[in-house]
Amino acid sequence: MKKKILITGGAGFIGSHVVRLFVNNYPNYEIVNLDKLTYAGNLANLADVEDKPNYRFIKGDIVDAAFIQELFETEQFDGVIHLAAESHVDRSIANPTEFVFTNVIGTVNLLNAAKHIWKDNREGKRFYHISTDEVYGSLGKEGFFTEETGYDPHSPYSASKASSDHFVRAYNDTFGLPTVISNCSNNYGSFQFPEKLIPLFINNIRNNKALPVYGKGENVRDWLWVVDHARAIDVIFHKGELGETYNIGGFNEWTNIDLIKVICKKMDKKLGREAGTSEKLITYVKDRAGHDLRYAIDATKIKNELGWEPSLQFEEGIEKTIDWYLANEEWMNNVTSGDYLKYYEAQYQER
Ligand code: NAD
Ligand code: TYD
Repeated sequence: MKKKILITGGAGFIGSHVVRLFVNNYPNYEIVNLDKLTYAGNLANLADVEDKPNYRFIKGDIVDAAFIQELFETEQFDGVIHLAAESHVDRSIANPTEFVFTNVIGTVNLLNAAKHIWKDNREGKRFYHISTDEVYGSLGKEGFFTEETGYDPHSPYSASKASSDHFVRAYNDTFGLPTVISNCSNNYGSFQFPEKLIPLFINNIRNNKALPVYGKGENVRDWLWVVDHARAIDVIFHKGELGETYNIGGFNEWTNIDLIKVICKKMDKKLGREAGTSEKLITYVKDRAGHDLRYAIDATKIKNELGWEPSLQFEEGIEKTIDWYLANEEWMNNVTSGDYLKYYEAQYQER
């Protein structure tokens, strides 16, 4: 079936994997990628699909309500997969307001535009909002986040994502907008901006730079290979029930310090360095403010109802990921020049 689908934030980390999957798997769909190209957006992430006939890129800001309204009226999208966001917790601590603009107001602008163009016919239409497990707050040593867990965000990032989730549900409840939401755990894989733990540490090891571990490194994250997240998004977009929420996770919990040690060991081998060399770069630094102790997803619902499961074991995924960053030095060097250097200096200055 022919469909015109808007993917927002398609030039970012997860968005680029979602665009790639949809462009390659659905030749009948017209995929429109809308992205502002902030520091995190990079069209080089999509070089392999940019010439495909079913793909188009539009540069634009979801915060610009008039632009979004006009875009929807002109394009008459059948579906929206909304990933555009400010996504880094540390940046949200440094500048919370930007997160309110993009994550909250940007999302509401998209909801308004979809509500307007679909007002007379909602048949086959769908607004899919991509969110995070961080909206649920922090777990203790036991338990998992389910779809029933109450929202308890702690960082400005997670508060802005929680707010956007509430707006999406409110538009479903109040206006009958056909929406669906998913909340995913931490992703890793190719094309992730090196402000996030895994690419940052791979790059620092390569350059013999300190590895700044917040607090004692005891915080736990549940890591999912980004391609498996994109597969889950495909399944939910096509088969998820409207009005529902689906949690997506890797059943793959690691304390930061254990994960970092795995990366160090593998990097020593791959770079031909003596065992233990990279671990010497570990530097414990002042903890992140409001640092959530543990995230862990119960992904039973998506498994039982939609048949999705992660396809890759972590051991294989992290191997592939390290190899990708080592093979794509030019990509890394391009994104770590210019403004990145200013960010890095400001973020890690007090250590
Ligand atoms: P990212 O920061 O790599 O990419 C975000 C993209 O959005 C960039 O291409 C950026 O240019 C674009 N963007 C930002 N502001 C915009 C604006 N005002 N208008 C248009 N485009 C704008 O983020 P990511 O890690 O790929 O995350 C994508 C989505 O998935 C986010 O909504 C995030 O909350 C969610 N998520 C991320 C993770 C994770 O581990 N990274 C986990 C769960 C959920
Ligand atoms: P991050 O990749 O920023 O993802 P999130 O905060 O959304 O989970 O961080 C993952 C974990 O790694 C988190 O517990 C914070 C920690 N961390 C460090 O210890 N040092 C760092 O320099 C970074 C970026 C993260």
